[in-house]
Amino acid sequence: MLICPKCKCALYKNDKIYQCDNHHTFDIAKKGYVHLFLKNRKQTGDDKHMVKARTYFLEKGFYQPLCDQILLFLKSLSFAKLVDAGCGEGYYTNQIADLFSKVDIYAFDLSKHAVHEACKGKKQVFYGVCSVADLPLNEKSIDIILSIFAPIQASEFHRVLKKEGYFLKVAPGPKHLYEMKQILYTDVYDNDLQHTYDGFVLQEIKEVAYDIELCSKQDIEALFMMTPYYWKSPIEGSKKLLALDYLKTKVQFQIELYRCIGKEDDK
Ligand SMILES: C[S@@+](CC[C@H](N)C(=O)[O-])C[C@H]1O[C@@H](n2cnc3c(N)ncnc32)[C@H](O)[C@@H]1O
Ligand SMILES: [Zn+2]
Repeated sequence: MLICPKCKCALYKNDKIYQCDNHHTFDIAKKGYVHLFLKNRKQTGDDKHMVKARTYFLEKGFYQPLCDQILLFLKSLSFAKLVDAGCGEGYYTNQIADLFSKVDIYAFDLSKHAVHEACKGKKQVFYGVCSVADLPLNEKSIDIILSIFAPIQASEFHRVLKKEGYFLKVAPGPKHLYEMKQILYTDVYDNDLQHTYDGFVLQEIKEVAYDIELCSKQDIEALFMMTPYYWKSPIEGSKKLLALDYLKTKVQFQIELYRCIGKEDDK
């Protein structure tokens, strides 16, 4: 199931490490996750502060209605092996693990800070630090891949999914955080949508939308830090937002179900 990131041979657990037959070894951290990202690569995932802000915000329950809809969606499908690609702090992964106790769950993120947080108290999920572009998994071994507000690598998802495997994507809808963006920018545009991925066919879309009310500066800053706007907003707009004590804004998500196609040689 798991493969070595260096040589692609099978990876197996040997006491406190994972190793392959070519003697490549990967330590298991105290918290239980495995570092599978090759050290000479430069990318990093979210930093400590971003992880802290997202953990704070998610624990307040603002996105629980979305999580409930994802769980409902998953209940309508049949799968034995699930991957959460770009799992962050495991907010969704760990709730999925609670509901689907018989499913093998693998969750990966490039940020060791996020994975460290995700591991807390969840022994039945295999957590690894690696990129979604290089999943340490055998070809055609997975029934469903989830990507929730995370980078998408369609060719890699296609490689590890079984024939007719599912790709469940959760992304912001056109009007997501519209009122927050009105404070940040003078001209506000709707978010772009993407519905085509090589090797996949779109089967179903479900929209989830509701308003959230943030009643403190801390809540507003935490939400802001979770978004790409934190890095690219005009300074005036950022100041205006961070001066607020109250913000009501729409959240709008799309849950999109894709099916793997073009794997004729599979059983
Ligand atoms: C917006 S967060 C979403 C996290 C989680 N799915 C959630 O919704 O709470 C995006 C996550 O993708 C991770 N990430 C960024 N680039 C990545 C990559 N190439 N491979 C794996 N994870 C990546 C970040 O570290 C971050 O945790
Ligand atoms: Zn190896």
